[in-house]
Amino acid sequence: MTNKYNYFVANWKMFGNIKSINSTNKVIKISKLRKFRKAKIIYCPPYTLISDFVKKLRKTKIEVGAQNCHHSNLFGPFTGCINAKMIKNLGCNYVIIGHSENRKSGDTDLIINKKIKSSLSSKLNIFFCIGETFKEKNEKRTKLILSKQIKKGLDKIKITKKIIIAYEPVWSIGTGLIPNKRELSENILFIKKLLKKNFNINHQRVLYGGSVTSKNVRELSQIKHIDGFLVGGASLNPNKFIDIIKKTFN
Ligand code: PGA
Repeated sequence: MTNKYNYFVANWKMFGNIKSINSTNKVIKISKLRKFRKAKIIYCPPYTLISDFVKKLRKTKIEVGAQNCHHSNLFGPFTGCINAKMIKNLGCNYVIIGHSENRKSGDTDLIINKKIKSSLSSKLNIFFCIGETFKEKNEKRTKLILSKQIKKGLDKIKITKKIIIAYEPVWSIGTGLIPNKRELSENILFIKKLLKKNFNINHQRVLYGGSVTSKNVRELSQIKHIDGFLVGGASLNPNKFIDIIKKTFN
């Protein structure tokens, strides 16, 4: 890993109830250890639990994020939606945008671009998810897709360190499959070079997400240029999540 911090983002998706908050106890404990001082741990629970997570984690170095937001920062008649301003107001500093599960249910590059803009104006840090499908990978279109998602998603946006790319191959999410070392390292480097070339920004952080577990994280963390992990399933279990953090540093 190349940067000052290693990100460990727990994407809880549509899991968890009020009791699940206690699963952060063990994670809080290890986050205090000197050995893991460079670990930036961020919990992204469902909206229903955000306030409780914020309260629980207030005096710790662990932060809280949301998993999505509406593209408008104004109040409005959008049943079931929450915007970036409301998320910031709850005490979150992060939001995940462009996750493939939301792209599948209608988030286009244009909507994602609007969501990133409104999140930036609400001073949120953004995990901007990109990634190719299995079909696109087999057709050798991965770089084309990544490039399109980045250029359209970040169109007319002044990129800052607040935007953290999460490279998540769609075929890898929840399947137990991960890209091979060469592929992954090539794609992460491609993303970093593209950001430098098109947006003139150096050292932008890029995370990897998709079936990260305590079993494969050692191999993944050896890949240069990866600045951390977006973890879905394995982050629900505190022991597994802790193991991922420990193995990255060992
Ligand atoms: P997974 O999910 O770790 O369960 O594959 C990752 C994600 O969707 O962010």
